Amino acid sequence: MASFPKRTRTCGELRAQDIGTTVTLNGWVDTRRDLGGVIFIDLRDRYGITQIVFNPQRGSDAHAAAKELRSEFVLSVTGTVERRPEGTAHPGLETGEIDVMVSALMILNRAETPPFPMDESAETAEDLRLKYRYLDLRRPSLQRTLMFRHRMYQITHRYFDSRGFIEIETPVLMKSTPEGARDYLVPSRVHRGRFYALPQSPQTYKQILMVSGFDKYVQIVKCFRDEDLRADRQPEFTQIDIEMSFVDEIDIQNLAEGLIATFFKELKGIDIPLPLPRFTYREAMETYGSDKPDTRFGLKFCDITDLVGRSGFKVFADNVQRGGVVAGFVVPGGASLTRNQMDTIVDFTKGLGAGGLVYFKWTEQGLETAVEKFLGKDIVAAIAAHMGAAKGDLILLVSDVWLKAYTILGSLRLEMARRLNLIDETRNDLLWVTEFPMFEYSEEEKRFVAMHHMFTAPHPDDIELLTTDPGKARARAYDIVLNGNEIGGGSIRIHDRELQSKVFGLLGMGPEEAEKKFGFLLGAFRYGAPPHGGIALGFDRIVMLMTGMKSIRDVMAFPKTASAMSLMDEAPSEVEDKQLRELHIRVV
Ligand code: AMO
Repeated sequence: MASFPKRTRTCGELRAQDIGTTVTLNGWVDTRRDLGGVIFIDLRDRYGITQIVFNPQRGSDAHAAAKELRSEFVLSVTGTVERRPEGTAHPGLETGEIDVMVSALMILNRAETPPFPMDESAETAEDLRLKYRYLDLRRPSLQRTLMFRHRMYQITHRYFDSRGFIEIETPVLMKSTPEGARDYLVPSRVHRGRFYALPQSPQTYKQILMVSGFDKYVQIVKCFRDEDLRADRQPEFTQIDIEMSFVDEIDIQNLAEGLIATFFKELKGIDIPLPLPRFTYREAMETYGSDKPDTRFGLKFCDITDLVGRSGFKVFADNVQRGGVVAGFVVPGGASLTRNQMDTIVDFTKGLGAGGLVYFKWTEQGLETAVEKFLGKDIVAAIAAHMGAAKGDLILLVSDVWLKAYTILGSLRLEMARRLNLIDETRNDLLWVTEFPMFEYSEEEKRFVAMHHMFTAPHPDDIELLTTDPGKARARAYDIVLNGNEIGGGSIRIHDRELQSKVFGLLGMGPEEAEKKFGFLLGAFRYGAPPHGGIALGFDRIVMLMTGMKSIRDVMAFPKTASAMSLMDEAPSEVEDKQLRELHIRVV
């Protein structure tokens, strides 16, 4: 039996047609106004807000008890639904036509004054919000975002279920098989000196499920990575993890883009034209200087290597001699930037590691550039013409080795777009980047590392290159990008034991080490592994971008800070000596 009058309706649902009915509402005091003896309270629950009224003439006991009410008290009120008096209706509020005249009040709980108001117009420091997350979560924007998230889970389940996928859970305690980031480790009590790792992703498990014949696997799954955090990264985050057998790139891409388009349609009523545009990694880099290009604005690049390779400008010519590239882009109308503004842009570019930034301004006086004396008037004019510049424009040029030149230009392009406000925030630009390189060279480790991960299959035309020039080999890997953010990545996998061993070798892992770390996978490959591939979509990132939030922390109920702390429960925390002893661990 309830010890209080249970709600018959929520705080978000009463309308004019309910006038005259008697209702019981349960909720929190949002705001309170005392107007000449009549007390008005906005009562809140997750469904909305209803104004409740305590009038001494209409219920004197309730009115007397209401004097004590303060923000965030928890109430049960019973009363009649009435039309608000002439001129006091609140058109912005769904329940704005009515109020509830209270005849009985029960205070279910009292609250201390909250450290910040639930009203979001008040700026509140994020640390404070994270410490009192239970209060922060009462605020409308987080409530809306978590509701959005919930609907995205449901759409995901329906989408895959209707296509014959099965959801299979994979372990959270697994073998440490580093995939790129650092592992979170969990010491074993029973097996002294041994550790489980938390999965960076269920990559090996989903591949093994393919060997087992579950040809369409999906899981909404938590992943854990001990890496440096940013606005779009958390140490634990959620993926929509997918794997399929007997497929190639296009099957996985169709499936994944179909899901994203369904999200946009069902959650925002937006039609995303399919198939999405595709860029090879090379095209993306040479056009936008990024493997996750933001195509919501222009500023596309132009290669002028051939024009300047034999010029008298040594900086360009020497770089070209060494195999480098010279490229840049036109900033329409950019000639009006002042000397000071240009100095900051040059400094910004140098800060990215560039030796310098060459620029031409096309003013009333013609093409102006400090390097005209080295390049000569004709080449300057030829560059401007080749790049399609016009009077009033600014041309920015960078000279370096291929990857560095385009990476610098990519950051500069984004910076110029931000400065000049060129990004159309109303657009939803989705695209695929394909044919990533298999490997990138790590200066730090002095060896190749996998660009996607070490289970990714090489491009069939590039198998030879694995032996002759691994740095040039392309992978059957693809990323899906939304407005310049990577929201998912996947690949067709190696399903051949020999080839997998060879790739492990290229990554500096000899047969013994490979056997020790991935013997289980290589073992599984002995027993009939089907061709397979998959993708993982970053659930939190998609919610963040679709709800327009600036931080991934604003789309998770209980996120961690940039230093991976949970301010609410203060994890990570120290533990009892006894616990450490049981785990055979000593902290030094
Ligand atoms: P990948 O490492 O590219 O692929 O991850 C897939 C997607 O997960 C999201 N993501 C993150 N989101 C929040 N915080 C993080 N720290 C974080 N790290 C990654 C990104 C990314 O695109 N096993 C492979 C997938 C596969 O090959 O099938 C994998 O995990 O949106």
